[in-house]
Amino acid sequence: MKTAATLATGSLLASVASAQVVQWDIAKRANGAPKLTRRADGSVEEVITNEKNRGGYFASCQVGTPGQKLTLQLDTGSSDIWVPSSNSAVCEQSSNGGGCTLGSYNEDASTSKEDVGPGEFDISYVDGSHSKGDYITETFEIGGSTLTNLTMGLGLDTTIPYGLVGVGYALNEAIVASTGSVGSVYNNLPVQMRNEGLIKSVAYSLWLNDLDASTGNILFGGIDTDKYHGDLTRIKIYQDSQSKAFTSFTVAMTSLEASSSSGTDVLSSSSFPIPVVLDSGTTFSYLPQDLAEQVWEEVGASYNAQVGVAVLPCELENAKGYFSFGLAGTGGPVINITMDELVLPLTTGSPIQFQSGPYKGQDACQFGIQNFSSDPFLLGDTFLRSAYVVYDLENNEIGIAPTDFNATTSNVVAFPSQGAQIPSATAAPSQDAITQAGSLASPTYGASGGFQSAGSRSGDDSAASMPSPLDWSKLAVIGASMGFMMVGSGLFLAL
Ligand SMILES: *[C@@H]1O[C@H](CO)[C@@H](O)[C@H](O)[C@H]1NC(C)=O
Ligand SMILES: *[C@@H]1O[C@H](CO)[C@@H](O)[C@H](O)[C@H]1NC(C)=O
Ligand SMILES: *[C@@H]1O[C@H](CO)[C@@H](O)[C@H](O)[C@H]1NC(C)=O
Ligand SMILES: *[C@@H]1O[C@H](CO)[C@@H](O)[C@H](O)[C@H]1NC(C)=O
Repeated sequence: MKTAATLATGSLLASVASAQVVQWDIAKRANGAPKLTRRADGSVEEVITNEKNRGGYFASCQVGTPGQKLTLQLDTGSSDIWVPSSNSAVCEQSSNGGGCTLGSYNEDASTSKEDVGPGEFDISYVDGSHSKGDYITETFEIGGSTLTNLTMGLGLDTTIPYGLVGVGYALNEAIVASTGSVGSVYNNLPVQMRNEGLIKSVAYSLWLNDLDASTGNILFGGIDTDKYHGDLTRIKIYQDSQSKAFTSFTVAMTSLEASSSSGTDVLSSSSFPIPVVLDSGTTFSYLPQDLAEQVWEEVGASYNAQVGVAVLPCELENAKGYFSFGLAGTGGPVINITMDELVLPLTTGSPIQFQSGPYKGQDACQFGIQNFSSDPFLLGDTFLRSAYVVYDLENNEIGIAPTDFNATTSNVVAFPSQGAQIPSATAAPSQDAITQAGSLASPTYGASGGFQSAGSRSGDDSAASMPSPLDWSKLAVIGASMGFMMVGSGLFLAL
């Protein structure tokens, strides 16, 4: 039996609320239906086979009166909360493993629901999924705090079997795109938290933690100085060049270096400075083709057309090299991403092996850095786990520092007032001097030997191939969620 009740156990619990900050623990989990197995003692254990990649970060909340328990995915790439209706077709498919196992919302069972926009909720994400229905106001309880009149979407017709908590800019709400009018904007969760006095400033910090750790947290209204190394650096968020409004967490990526025991290479791209969106709802990171190809060459990854992603031997998770992502120009923050954060399983169940090429016979994994052809380029979870990121929606700045994986202590500092700058952070020194300066020059690949020494190249010289998908009986390829960037958010940037 799959029951929503089992999902709330364990890691989804403890959250903190105080006068000025609100913290929720968020748990990493597989999207869609988790597999549950019955243990000998009769209790039900949750087995998450693919949590390392397709999974996003989820938080428990209660909606309505009396409260209905739901587990929702946290998403910085969109701005609406929506919940799946228990009357939607996707939630009613409870046979063959379907249904809304993370909870659904029954509007008829709540005394606090008000319809504020019948038929007006309509959101589509860049991966093609959607949710449509009504805008309602409801009571929303999360992390020990209650908001009494929060506007949210009710997904009556949706392809996604769980809801989302979009915490992006209010101007990126689906209603603004549907009506084409800024006048239809409503106070979304971060804004309403400030308006109801739970936090002082519309800002929050996200700590996703290590790929192998199951929980991280989001802290509204403050920062936790024990969760990162060194100091936070403040960098600018860029406006949409057409509307001149702030609609997404787009920052300037200005350098990328590859380092290993055999050397360090400066990688190049004709697209530098690259507008990149910090999106917790996206699994991988997506870079321009010219840059992605150099990264693949360093580690010995290759694009596989059958699965549509760059793949590499799983063994390379033990490679000692790392990539240093530079943001906001000279002297700006640098985040190192080690290989163990970049090698993710390709299939559920037992792995598949390369059939030919240098890695013949070895297990294949997917690589955390993929290519994309145009804006938006995205820094998703494979980047964000290695960074502590503060989103300041009042000053339109990001605070960023290398994460402290598995930090066990906490030192929370609240934003003291509305519009206060990110505490304990200094501005990137030369971000105003960033100019369009990209050009492509092939590196010498001095670092590649060090990366690839973790693997063994014993196969032939033919192109790497994998078995036909028909042979992958019982294995499902784990799709990445590139999902939860809302379509139509207008990423026409002039850096
Ligand atoms: C709840 O919010 C809606 C939309 O923001 C507003 O129209 C309504 O008056 C509010 N209701 C209460 C009881 O505050
Ligand atoms: C963090 O903890 C997980 C287990 O909870 C462990 O597998 C992982 O290696 C740790 N990461 C680091 C960087 O210490
Ligand atoms: C990141 O890598 C650079 C070298 O590219 C190194 O100098 C720096 O200390 C590293 N930073 C952290 C936080 O590990
Ligand atoms: C990624 O690169 C491969 C190989 O060059 C190419 O076939 C594919 O179309 C690219 N994908 C995108 C989204 O640009």
